Amino acid sequence: MPITLTRLDPTGEDHDALVDFLTRNEFPFHVNHRWTREAVETSTAGGAFRDEDNDSFWLDHEEHGRIGFLRLEDLGEDSPLFDLRLDAPFRNRGLGADVLRAVSMHVFTTLPRVTRFEGQTREDNVAMRKIFLRCGWVKEAHYRESWPVDGGRPLASVAYAVLRRDWETGRTTPLVWDDLPG
Ligand SMILES: CC(C)(COP(=O)(O)OP(=O)(O)OC[C@H]1O[C@@H](n2cnc3c(N)ncnc32)[C@H](O)[C@@H]1OP(=O)(O)O)[C@@H](O)C(=O)NCCC(=O)NCCS
Repeated sequence: MPITLTRLDPTGEDHDALVDFLTRNEFPFHVNHRWTREAVETSTAGGAFRDEDNDSFWLDHEEHGRIGFLRLEDLGEDSPLFDLRLDAPFRNRGLGADVLRAVSMHVFTTLPRVTRFEGQTREDNVAMRKIFLRCGWVKEAHYRESWPVDGGRPLASVAYAVLRRDWETGRTTPLVWDDLPG
């Protein structure tokens, strides 16, 4: 696996690097496209990057070095979520699928209670959606007009997940969409 996760300390030694990473990058498919230093400070103080429900990591690539940031969310649940952000110079270079595989490996090998792992993205985040499919994740929901867009119509939020047993066996449990005849 070419990617490793390095747990970061958002209030200690990684604080300045975290502020730098979040404020110098643009995130066009997130609700907030840009972070300010103040927003990072507020989120850090509120435990958004590390508390009982959240934990954060740098994504380190064996050849390219530090390529991005990951936050795991809802860690008190059996079905956590994630927020994945590559540094702009490393986007669109085909690294995303290896990153998601490394993240899934981390979750399923270090968090025994987790039975499924979820992710959501905006409908027009084609790169993220392709990565989900390439890694065998299953689309479970398409929340129409649920993603607010500044100055525009809301877009859909699309939800994908992988089950622990599917990750372990390499077999995909099918989702029967029309399970209840009308
Ligand atoms: C989303 C993100 C993780 C994707 O990782 P990536 O390494 O940039 O993606 P890749 O280069 O591996 O591209 C994945 C696929 O999407 C395709 N793709 C990328 N942008 C595309 C676009 N605008 N239209 C169509 N296809 C696109 C690529 O060609 C590739 O296709 P393939 O699998 O058929 O070869 C990364 O771009 C990122 O961090 N973006 C900013 C933050 C973000 O949006 N995070 C997701 C929140 S859940």
